[in-house]
Amino acid sequence: MSTVVTAQTYRGNLYSAAAIADPYPVYRELRALGPVVRLARHRAFALTGYDECKRTLLDDGTFVSGKGVALNPFANRFSRGTTLNSDGDEHANRRKLVAHRLTPRALRSMSDAVEAAAEQVAGRAVARGRVDGVAVARSLPLQVVPDLVGWPDDEREHLLRWAAATFDVLGPINGQSLRSTAASLGMMRFARRIARTENVLAGSMGAEVIAAAKAGRIARSEASALMIDYLAPSLDTTISAISSALLLFALHPGQWDQVRADRTLIPNALNEVVRFESPLRAFTRLASDDTEIAGTPVRKGQRVVVLFASANRDETAWNDPDTFDIHRDATRHLGFGQGTHGCAGQGLARLEAHAILNALADRVERIELTGLPVWGRNNIIRGLARLPLELHPIGGRT
Ligand code: HEM
Repeated sequence: MSTVVTAQTYRGNLYSAAAIADPYPVYRELRALGPVVRLARHRAFALTGYDECKRTLLDDGTFVSGKGVALNPFANRFSRGTTLNSDGDEHANRRKLVAHRLTPRALRSMSDAVEAAAEQVAGRAVARGRVDGVAVARSLPLQVVPDLVGWPDDEREHLLRWAAATFDVLGPINGQSLRSTAASLGMMRFARRIARTENVLAGSMGAEVIAAAKAGRIARSEASALMIDYLAPSLDTTISAISSALLLFALHPGQWDQVRADRTLIPNALNEVVRFESPLRAFTRLASDDTEIAGTPVRKGQRVVVLFASANRDETAWNDPDTFDIHRDATRHLGFGQGTHGCAGQGLARLEAHAILNALADRVERIELTGLPVWGRNNIIRGLARLPLELHPIGGRT
């Protein structure tokens, strides 16, 4: 019989402003308490270790998403109908509906347009010289994703605020999620309206979702949830990864030189960025049965917080995890999740981030940090809010 392990209790607040601004000391403290830690404030277990997070994500029969992946019951109720919040056949059907738009083949057909847009973004940024790296990181996803999803041209100015809020409300009930509630409901209302009025761009993912609802292949109510499903997770996550990459290459100029000299390093460099500064901190699962994780009993109905970002810095899984190193094998990181719910849009995220880094590598000799980077405040997304940079052009020319 295996030994029963009693989980240590953490009484701090994983979602305080300080823990959001600088989460890594908190994750370290949690890992020192064990791979499974009881979060007294949030009435849930936190999974801190790489192995425990991975195993839990892969065991989607026991640790379900259909009861929500948020840390509060309201968001779990409101997110019904999405791919993220579903299990089994329902999940497979929703995922299948638009998956063909994000296959490597489909993405290849988009790559020329994405690369051309990245050239323009990089060219403009280098011409300016002094830039906010976050503004540079936003440009490409904001050009690419809303068109792919089919979001109508009006109301696009709200998208960033709405999408960030949609993540924020998936944390616990705190000041942060309460402040974001109105904006997240704004996105939901708008998605319902465009699904009802069928006001989506022709030939887009959204048009396909609406056609499926009309043909009775999905419920009408699912159409708006599915629109949000692909729009909300595709902006802040990718923007976070691109802006973190700019910061990390500013802090590690030698590694930027290596990328400039050898572009085949970019794919693994992106994995290392997502490992080192995981854009998505954590989501939860609900135990559908009595079970155990690393010897700690977990009862049916208990919630576990899968800390992707802590798993990616687990010292038992990575050598020197707090060092950014584009040469380590970072492919097994959990920054895109794992298993059935593993990120459906990672190919697109990689395409966008690769295109912008490649276009910058053609033009920029050195990325200089000219002021203090400021991290944004969000329960779920770790992303920069401001990144003052100077982009030094190759040979001093633009
Ligand atoms: C660097 C960028 C990105 C990161 C770090 C990221 C991260 C993640 C993670 C960790 C999950 C797993 C959630 C879970 O297991 O509960 C996920 C799921 C998902 N992501 Fe991403 N994502 C990114 C970009 C995108 C983009 C560009 C799209 C859309 C085009 C997208 C769409 C989705 C969808 C639809 C799911 C739900 C999949 C499912 O439940 O089957 N993501 N993402």
